[in-house]
Amino acid sequence: MILIVGGAGYIGSHINKELYKKSYETLIFDNLSGGHKESVKWGSFIEGDLCDIEELRELFKKTPIKAVIYCGGYSLVGESIDDPEKYYTNNVINTLNLLKVMREFSCKYLIFSSSCSIYGDPVEIPISEDHPISPINPYGRSKSMIEDILRDYSKSYGLEYISLRYFNAAGADKDLDIGERHNPETHLIPLVLDVALGKKENIEIFGDNYETKDGTCIRDYIHVSDLAKAHILALESLLLGDGCNVYNLGNSRGYSVREIINTAQKITGKKIKYIIGGKREGDPAVLISSCEKIEKELGWRPEITDLEEIIQSAWDWQKRGEVRNEK
Ligand code: UFG
Repeated sequence: MILIVGGAGYIGSHINKELYKKSYETLIFDNLSGGHKESVKWGSFIEGDLCDIEELRELFKKTPIKAVIYCGGYSLVGESIDDPEKYYTNNVINTLNLLKVMREFSCKYLIFSSSCSIYGDPVEIPISEDHPISPINPYGRSKSMIEDILRDYSKSYGLEYISLRYFNAAGADKDLDIGERHNPETHLIPLVLDVALGKKENIEIFGDNYETKDGTCIRDYIHVSDLAKAHILALESLLLGDGCNVYNLGNSRGYSVREIINTAQKITGKKIKYIIGGKREGDPAVLISSCEKIEKELGWRPEITDLEEIIQSAWDWQKRGEVRNEK
């Protein structure tokens, strides 16, 4: 049994689907703070929170867990600046509970959702895994702290883990079984598409005087299904005994906020109004991954690399949600 902590969320639900496709049995543990029960379409589900260590012990007592995939962290840079306690409590303290119970039950395999936020303002583009770790916001720091802890636990307790440093997850499952549904939504692509749907009047561009080709921030958007597939390869590598590792997960190409808006206009056929706002605190100008390491070592390669295709899948999903009047 594979336990997915946070498996009712955007990324977790796509990981659950990929595991299901490969015939793994999954158990989803999620507090539904950001996830949705309806997104758990495969495996079984327990509503619970890592802050309750006894509940976690019960779970491990009842169900032998072979490996854990953790994607239960809060992940909004801005929110982490406004409320760092929320981030350190959930992303650090509660993750320590999970690691404690895993150790008590001799469960030694963990796939951990980390983030490119741990690199901070990059000193080199593309960013490879040996880029200095220097987070500039509490969210990134919470992920970097856990990476340090994992290293120590691995050395002292034999924990075997792979940390996957995500760039910007985007798009939706091609079958439209699952997709992005944050409430409130803060991410660029779904917000831009909300403007196309007429649910929002305009998109605010957070700063247009960055040192980039058009002045707006550049990010590396990776299709969520490609991201999810990498978890299976990472899991299989751990189970084969290949040992601990860290890998970047991105699309190895960068697009500016303006390019996202222009591409979304093309796909939706709608005019997307924007206004220029101030810079958002904690936003580096450019984040682009180098994924050579995971390509070479695990044979992972993103299948949906074209920005139009990524945004098209997000658009198909969002239009469907509109029909069903989902929040
Ligand atoms: N942006 C806008 N206007 C908006 C929303 C976003 O201009 O209304 C810009 C942001 O400034 C940024 C880009 O669009 O330059 C992407 O922003 P998102 O909020 O969609 O994503 P982030 O890059 O802030 O963060 C996401 C995840 C993090 C992860 C990070 C990695 O939420 O967990 O990607 O880059 F760490």
